[in-house]
Amino acid sequence: MLELNHVSKSYDGTPILRDISIQVEEGEIVSILGPSGCGKTTLLNLILGITDASSGQIFYNGTDITDLPMEKRGFNIVFQDYALFPNLNVYKNITYGLKNKPQISSKQEVEDLIDLLGLREHLYKRIDQLSGGQKQRVALARTMVMKPKILLLDEPLSALDGVIKESIKDRIKTIAKEFKLTTIIVTHDPEEALTLSDRVLIIEKGQISQYAKPDEIIHTPKNNFVRKFILNQLEIKRNNIYTLFGDRELQAAAL
Ligand SMILES: Nc1ncnc2c1ncn2[C@@H]1O[C@H](COP(=O)(O)OP(=O)(O)O)[C@@H](O)[C@H]1O
Ligand SMILES: [Mg+2]
Repeated sequence: MLELNHVSKSYDGTPILRDISIQVEEGEIVSILGPSGCGKTTLLNLILGITDASSGQIFYNGTDITDLPMEKRGFNIVFQDYALFPNLNVYKNITYGLKNKPQISSKQEVEDLIDLLGLREHLYKRIDQLSGGQKQRVALARTMVMKPKILLLDEPLSALDGVIKESIKDRIKTIAKEFKLTTIIVTHDPEEALTLSDRVLIIEKGQISQYAKPDEIIHTPKNNFVRKFILNQLEIKRNNIYTLFGDRELQAAAL
């Protein structure tokens, strides 16, 4: 279990995150949901260990990892900007981390991921020959082959569309459940958060607005921000949510 205990972060005296306390269970998929600039990426970076908390503690399975360097935490992230190696082809990008740790994933597991993410026909292309969505899938494959203890994803679906987006969404879910892989996903899209995750952490201006299961958020939004932020945006994607929760429930939640 991952636990954040009163974690705060400031940059040059400006508070970015304030008093974040959450628990994430083993194998749980949690979305961090909030508008641009609310502190989502900063929170992921704190968990990953790239960024130090200004105050508070982070525990993993009961151990205080607040001061543990990133590489010793064993978590792994797919960055928002992909952070791929432009001079290496797709296959070499995917297997880069295995060069020094080849035992982590078998050749077959790598091949399966390549097929799963629809990358077989692109294996020998350079990164700059790929579309945004293809780059995102390479970044996802590269992280997944390393079998992290916690998988952190920063807006992993934002560059994807249609069928591919849905299939990767399903696959993230399947992998998280099959391997009991704790997965934390940043998104600004309420529909994505509500359909993909076990629990959703809604952040407003660096503070927790609500941390609850999707149906709880839909049925009992904790405050005006949750109501507005979610319902305003769900309006746009109303049809998708209808199939999930039924329109009567959505109307009830809107009241
Ligand atoms: N290294 C940094 N130095 C100073 N300010 C930062 C730094 N990183 C992020 N911020 C600020 O923190 C706020 C939250 O940023 P971020 O976590 O990237 O938001 P989000 O991912 O939700 O869009 C923004 O106002 C951003 O400008
Ligand atoms: Mg961000």
